[in-house]
Amino acid sequence: MSKIRTIQQHIHDQERLFPGATGDFTALLTSLVLSAKIISREVNKAGLANILGETDNINTHGETVTKLDEYAQQTICRAIGYSGQTCIMASEESEDIIPMPAGSKRGKYVLMFDPLDGSSNIDVNASIGTIFSIHRKVSVGAGDGSLEDCLQPGSRQVAAGYFIYGSSTMMVYTTGDGVHGFTLDPSLGEFLLSHENIRTPARGKIYSINEGNQQKWDAPTRRYIDYLKQDEKEQGRPYSLRYIGSLVSDFHRNLLKGGIFLYPGPKGKLRLLYEASPLAMVVEQAGGAASTGTERILDLQPQSLHQKVPLIIGSKDDVAQYEQFCKEALATAGD
Ligand code: AHG
Ligand code: MN
Ligand code: MN
Repeated sequence: MSKIRTIQQHIHDQERLFPGATGDFTALLTSLVLSAKIISREVNKAGLANILGETDNINTHGETVTKLDEYAQQTICRAIGYSGQTCIMASEESEDIIPMPAGSKRGKYVLMFDPLDGSSNIDVNASIGTIFSIHRKVSVGAGDGSLEDCLQPGSRQVAAGYFIYGSSTMMVYTTGDGVHGFTLDPSLGEFLLSHENIRTPARGKIYSINEGNQQKWDAPTRRYIDYLKQDEKEQGRPYSLRYIGSLVSDFHRNLLKGGIFLYPGPKGKLRLLYEASPLAMVVEQAGGAASTGTERILDLQPQSLHQKVPLIIGSKDDVAQYEQFCKEALATAGD
């Protein structure tokens, strides 16, 4: 018989693994879970907006209807800002760091997030998500956090994960003790443990990349993708292309089934702090890998809040093979 376990019970158990735990971490994740339930409810109603008379961003009360990514941003800021566990936040949707509201308690955690990832998919009813990354404050003194607290390497994250608003709403997260997945039961309003200790296959059969960008790819990526398309006998196994264009969804599928996601160099598009680092922590905890092609994502020292990085993430052996293509390209260039 399988057990029934809520996210709350799970978070509480995870916090007990931290020496000197105070309950702050549980409270922070609880507020995040609340925000995700609110966002999920709104996402599920997205297709009804026009039918219910809300057009041109004006609803039936004459109020402006906020775009879903702004709504998600505001929801997280309101739920976390007043919770008292964070000292600073940063989001893909804000140019600068987000200070805590005046008068609210300051805590020891730093929250960074992508409020709505894959938002161009809302109109076509494809899965989207929210990604989060949690660090401890490192700047001196109590009180407000600063940019320094946000620009920490991903290896220092204390927790990371995502919510996916798909055929079901799920939460997948890690505190450095494996990766666990929970599915929202909307009738109960509870996330229930559905995927305990997720392990990603060492090698997959899926590759995910925007093929339309082929002309912009760097040379090793072009060679690697050509290689994957070769005759099955040449490279050992048949690969299928799967690309939704919503990172959380592409990542989640590959995490469960095995595979490799690539948004390659030279520059990349995805953000280190809100997308690459948190998913890198998740994938490594599930036995996979995340790389720029030449460096481990979690080792990168962020230089700025909205820094972009090439992201190659997924099954360990697939990512290692891509890195091998990069190494060979560098060696040839040096000849
Ligand atoms: P966001 O919706 O948060 O701006 O992220 C968009 C992303 C990501 O979800 C996806 O992997 C990528 O953009 C797709 O980009 P392309 O359309 O260039 O393939
Ligand atoms: Mn995104
Ligand atoms: Mn986004």
